[in-house]
Amino acid sequence: MNMKIGVIKGDGIGPEIVDEAMKVLDRIAEVYGHSISYTQLLMGGASIDVNGVPLTDETLEQAKASDAVLMGSIGGDAKTSPWYRLEPSKRPEAGLLSLRKGLNLFANLRPAVLYRELKASCPLKEEIADRGFDMMIMRELTGGLYFGRRSTEVIDGVSVAKDELVYSETEIRRIAKRGFDIAMKRRKKVTSVDKANVLDSSRLWRKVVEEVAKEYPDVTLEHMLVDNCAMQLVKDPAQFDVILTENMFGDILSDEASMVTGSIGMLASASLNETKFGLYEPSGGSAPDIAGQGIANPIATILSAAMMLRYSFDLDREAQAIEDAVGNVLGDGYRTTDIMSEGMKQVGTKEMGDRICSYIK
Ligand code: IPM
Ligand code: MG
Repeated sequence: MNMKIGVIKGDGIGPEIVDEAMKVLDRIAEVYGHSISYTQLLMGGASIDVNGVPLTDETLEQAKASDAVLMGSIGGDAKTSPWYRLEPSKRPEAGLLSLRKGLNLFANLRPAVLYRELKASCPLKEEIADRGFDMMIMRELTGGLYFGRRSTEVIDGVSVAKDELVYSETEIRRIAKRGFDIAMKRRKKVTSVDKANVLDSSRLWRKVVEEVAKEYPDVTLEHMLVDNCAMQLVKDPAQFDVILTENMFGDILSDEASMVTGSIGMLASASLNETKFGLYEPSGGSAPDIAGQGIANPIATILSAAMMLRYSFDLDREAQAIEDAVGNVLGDGYRTTDIMSEGMKQVGTKEMGDRICSYIK
């Protein structure tokens, strides 16, 4: 197969971790007889430096012309980076939001798995960590507070800021269907997370999710309020299979879920639209504090590349080969500093990538 992959290395640790994911993809191509052509795309701070804006129309078109996009991370230190002296609509994050919207990537899949080998990094009590967990957070990605109208104005001498939270039943239905489809391939349970005791948008969310659930009689549906969910994620994460939720709640809960796995450096993500196209990126941020030191954990990006093979190219065997290689490297005791524990062998970004490649044969 020939794969046309757009690559957004991005800012901070982005370039380092993407290089390792490309190395692993190249290894897969070599072993399984595929060819890959990469197109480098600028987005976020890297694009601001060159083009003055975080995403150009041309880059968006190039992304659309790719089969899939592999991304590192974007953004810098909000206190020190000149990018954050620009108005909000010109900052790195605005580029990411425009890209998500421009590509209609409404379904964001964020798997959070506790690897057996990494139990020592799990901050939860041993009896909870021992039970392990494997959940998929399905976050709606192109609606809600992120894309509603916003304004800041002075009314009668008082500053007032406003952010609109809007959801249509169409937007809720399409993400709910995706959530149930994925649950069918997993343990057939959906926990729909909302704030229906307060918000109208959540009440509509609940109603539409219940309608969709009727088409999936094999899937168990439960509703959970978001504050309770935040608590349950640290109390009993094993109860979750698919967590289905709106944009803002999904942003917050996915960071929480990732921390519970031991390190945000382990978590992949996929953002999908109605087609086979997808944007694949680690769940974590650009970590400007450790950028350029060669110590960042590339595993989340490498696992994102595996998700790309699975969801955009239907290459399940190749995706599994990457996931198995990651498991093997961890099993052999290799750790980047974020997941280091006693008795393990500490390696840098590049060596982790090399070790993973060496298991793909
Ligand atoms: C994420 C990030 C983004 C988000 C930021 C960078 C805009 O936190 O992908 O979770 O809030 O969606
Ligand atoms: Mg986030």
